[in-house]
Amino acid sequence: MKILVTGGAGFIGSAVVRQALRAGHEVVNLDVLTYAANLENVASVSNAPGYAFEQADIRDRAALDRIFADHRPDAVMHLAAESHVDRSIDGPGAFIETNITGTYNLLEAARAYWTRAGKPEGFRFHHISTDEVFGSLGEDGQFTEETPYDPRSPYSASKAASDHLVRAWHETYGLPVVMTNCSNNYGPFHFPEKLVPVVILKALSGQPIPVYGDGGNVRDWLYVEDHADALLCVLEKGQLGRSYNIGGENEAKNIDLVRTICAHMDDLHPEGAPHARLITFVADRPGHDRRYAIDPTRIREELGWRPSVTVEEGLRRTVEWYLANEDWWRPLLDRDGVGKRLGNG
Ligand SMILES: NC(=O)c1ccc[n+]([C@@H]2O[C@H](COP(=O)([O-])OP(=O)(O)OC[C@H]3O[C@@H](n4cnc5c(N)ncnc54)[C@H](O)[C@@H]3O)[C@@H](O)[C@H]2O)c1
Repeated sequence: MKILVTGGAGFIGSAVVRQALRAGHEVVNLDVLTYAANLENVASVSNAPGYAFEQADIRDRAALDRIFADHRPDAVMHLAAESHVDRSIDGPGAFIETNITGTYNLLEAARAYWTRAGKPEGFRFHHISTDEVFGSLGEDGQFTEETPYDPRSPYSASKAASDHLVRAWHETYGLPVVMTNCSNNYGPFHFPEKLVPVVILKALSGQPIPVYGDGGNVRDWLYVEDHADALLCVLEKGQLGRSYNIGGENEAKNIDLVRTICAHMDDLHPEGAPHARLITFVADRPGHDRRYAIDPTRIREELGWRPSVTVEEGLRRTVEWYLANEDWWRPLLDRDGVGKRLGNG
C-alpha cells in the first residue's frame, strides 16, 4: 500500500513510518513540524525507496488536496495532533484547531479524493486516538470499545471530538474508516516532556524527578513499536467503521513505573545510584485522571494481535536507547517549554 501518514515526524508516527517501510509499504509522511516533531526520528529511512516527506499543515485544506492528488495514497493513517495534556491546559486553542479542525479538513480532503477516484473499495482512513477519551476509572474495570466517552482535559476532549467526526464521516458519507484508541506509549524517540523520558533524563543529570500528586495514577504502558505493529494490523485487517482498543497489558502506578526506571538507571548508569533518591512529589495536574485500563479482547480475538514487549523489557530498552542517543535528545531540551512545569493551572 501507499500510506499517507500524518504526524510522521512525531513519536508514534515516526515508529509507524519506519515499520511500514520495513513491511514493504510506501509512505508519504505529512507533518508541519511543530515543537514536538523531529526529522531525526525518520533519518534512518529518509533515503529509503518509497519514502516521501511533505511539510504541510492539516489545517491547510489546499495543501491537503494537492498532496492527495500528487501522491494518490491507498490509505491514510492520521496521527498528527497536539498531544501533551499539560500544554492543552495552558493553551487549548491549538488543540481545538489541529485535533478537531485539522481532522475535519483531512476527512474532507480524503473524502473528495476517494470520491473522485470512484470510491475504491480498498481505501482506508485510519484515525489514531487515545484511551483518554473514556475519562477516568476507579479501582476496577477496564475501557472497552463500548465505554461511553467522558473526556476531562482539553486534549482528550479534542481527541474525542475528532473520533466523533471520523465516525460521522463513515456513517454519513460511507468513508471507509477504522479507528483505534490506545493507552500510554513509551520507547525510543519520545519527546523529552513526557513522563518516561523526563524521568530518565532527570535521573541522568542528578536533578529532582517530578512525580505529580501522590504518584498513584495508573496507566497501561505500551511499547511504541508494539503500537505501530498494532496500527498496521488494524489498517490491514480491521473491520470498516469499527474501533479497536490497544493496550500493553501492563498496568502500573506512575510511582512504580518511575521506581522501575530508576532501578534500570542504577544498573545501566551506576554513577548517581540510587536514582530513586531524586523522586520528588509535586503539585498534581488539575483534573488528573486517576486510572486508565484497556480491555484488549476485541483486537486480540478478532485480529489476533497482542503486545510482544513487557513493561520491564521495554523500559530497559528505552533507558538503554536514551543513554546511547544523547545527540538526539540534547538539542530538544532547548525547545520552548521543555523542562518547565506546564499545565499546573
Ligand atoms: N503518546 C501517547 O501515549 C499516545 C497514546 C494514544 C494515542 N496517541 C495519539 O497518537 C498520535 C501521535 O502521538 P505522539 O505521541 O506521536 O505525538 P507527537 O506530539 O510526538 O507528534 C505529533 C506530530 O504531529 C505533528 N503535527 C502537529 N500538528 C500538526 C498539524 N497541524 N499539521 C501537521 N502535522 C502536525 C507534529 O509536528 C508532530 O510531528 C496523536 O494523535 C495522539 O493523540 C498518543
